[in-house]
Amino acid sequence: MTRINPEIIKKDFPIFNQDIHGRKLVYLDNGATTQKPLQVIEAMAGYNKIAHGNPHRGAHKLSVEATKAYNSSKETVRKFINAKSTEEIIFTRNTTESLNLIAYSYGREFINEGDEILLAISEHHSNILPWQRLAKERKAILKYMYLNAEGRIPLDEIKNKISEKTKLVSVGHMSNVLGTIHPVEEIIHHAHRVGAVVVVDGAQSAPHMKVDVQEMDADFFVFSGHKMLGPMGIGVLYGKKEILEKMSPFLLGGDMIEYVYEQEATFAPLPYRLEAGTQNVEGAVGIKAAMEYLEKIGLDKIEEHEKELTQYALDRMLSLPYIDIIGPKDLEMRGGLISFTIDGIHPHDIATILDSYGVAIRAGHHCTQPLMRFLDLHATSRISFYLYNTKDDVDQFIEGVKNVRKWFGYGS
Ligand code: ALA
Repeated sequence: MTRINPEIIKKDFPIFNQDIHGRKLVYLDNGATTQKPLQVIEAMAGYNKIAHGNPHRGAHKLSVEATKAYNSSKETVRKFINAKSTEEIIFTRNTTESLNLIAYSYGREFINEGDEILLAISEHHSNILPWQRLAKERKAILKYMYLNAEGRIPLDEIKNKISEKTKLVSVGHMSNVLGTIHPVEEIIHHAHRVGAVVVVDGAQSAPHMKVDVQEMDADFFVFSGHKMLGPMGIGVLYGKKEILEKMSPFLLGGDMIEYVYEQEATFAPLPYRLEAGTQNVEGAVGIKAAMEYLEKIGLDKIEEHEKELTQYALDRMLSLPYIDIIGPKDLEMRGGLISFTIDGIHPHDIATILDSYGVAIRAGHHCTQPLMRFLDLHATSRISFYLYNTKDDVDQFIEGVKNVRKWFGYGS
């Protein structure tokens, strides 16, 4: 497999042409959001310049063009995750909205008193709060799978927590704090044996590795456009057709109906019945261009590249005794993000000082307070990679860390 060349890829991304605080930008906050290549920026600009209209609603040329752009994006998303049909692809605003939609439309209908909903303790708040509310409303029980010292869900934990009472399991494919790739196939296998449905939060995985929803056999798979080179404001909800068909709409309004009478209404077929209101066509054009860009380079090559960078960064970080890595310290079942703490220095101070060296990282609780409590931490710093990052970026980050230590009066 030929390797990707991030220096060449970087040239497609105008954001890297500028200096940050007088220094070359080292962008290591891809877990939060990613940068856009010209191909995405121009696809959206092109749509706005010559093809913008309200889809599905007009006989005029622009409405027809917008409809074509929207439908063609759905087909690209379908292929990207290998769904059976575009009826299984619902556009939402983001992963958060996709998860809320499932909790509202599926959960309120199919979760009953005494049923168990199972999550991992590493979930993002977006994959906790909708289930907390649902559990309270339906008098269901919310349970968690806990992690071992390496930050992984042990097989026994999966087997012990999934029981005949489990009706729904919702699990992050890759933790946005630990970088752990959770064994979703194993979880799905055990959940399906007891007839539970499984939601996979792919916000951190779909941008970085090939996902095949049929092979995985997930009942729902959700992710966001802006974490995969696309724009903010467009997300994806994949659901198996037979399950989506049983769900009542989340939002009611334009374009999701069949007939509306004074007191009653019937709904449009999938996927439209789950997409009320004017669609985000510009976002759909953007996510399509982003997926095409990623596919042209190859998800397998991107994954390989991130693995190499992660190993390089882990080696360098592990050689510094004052850095503590939070999460797996080897490459097994882990993705390209690394959380860490530095003895005696608050994560926010680390991020703020690194910023002054042009190095963008994230710090905080990462919207995972239950995980932080479980790990007995308040916050961590986090670096996260993508296809345009280089070993030089890692070196600059390490130099930055050494400078952070100097700021606080420690030796190197
Ligand atoms: N969920 C995003 C992150 O982990 C925002 O940074």
